[in-house]
Amino acid sequence: MEYTRHIQRLGHLLFELLSEGLGLDVQYLNDMECGKGLAHLSHYYPPCPEPELTLGTSKHADPDFLTILLQDSIGGLQVLHQNQWIDVPPISGAFVVNIGDLLQLITNDKFKSVEHRVRTSKIGPRVSVACFFTTHFYPFERRYGPIKKLLSERNLPKYKDITVREYVTLYNSKGLNGKSALDNFRL
Ligand code: OGA
Ligand code: NI
Repeated sequence: MEYTRHIQRLGHLLFELLSEGLGLDVQYLNDMECGKGLAHLSHYYPPCPEPELTLGTSKHADPDFLTILLQDSIGGLQVLHQNQWIDVPPISGAFVVNIGDLLQLITNDKFKSVEHRVRTSKIGPRVSVACFFTTHFYPFERRYGPIKKLLSERNLPKYKDITVREYVTLYNSKGLNGKSALDNFRL
């Protein structure tokens, strides 16, 4: 419970900084309730005798606004950058923060969600704790689309307005097949 409170405070601070980065009022993303819902997913990856034959988690982008990930010292997390898988080495005391699909949608592609995966390892187990800022466990009917203040004649909306639940329902139904769930909501 205490960890959750700290993550919520850190998330609110990050949404303030991200709002400023977009040239919006400092509380803009928090006022949109991007930091309102928090879901935890704790992972346990057992050691794998043949790591080249499988993955811990296959390629995906996160179905939320933002993810704050705590990983232990084993490693294995990779991000896709210019078509290459790049290791994200664990740094003691540091979090990994991922932009999720919903932040990409509301910023009209200004902030891009990151595709990532987790390799398996002969050493382990590996443990990680992912905290997702999303409201999809709540009965929220708020609609999210590209933020109007960011749009102009040269930056037309690229996505439909959707509820978080509509997005997550589609994300879950497609499975981790490596395809972007966002593409389904493009105009
Ligand atoms: C996730 C995720 C990475 C990890 O839960 O979405 O990408 O290191 N986890 O376990
Ligand atoms: Ni993820």
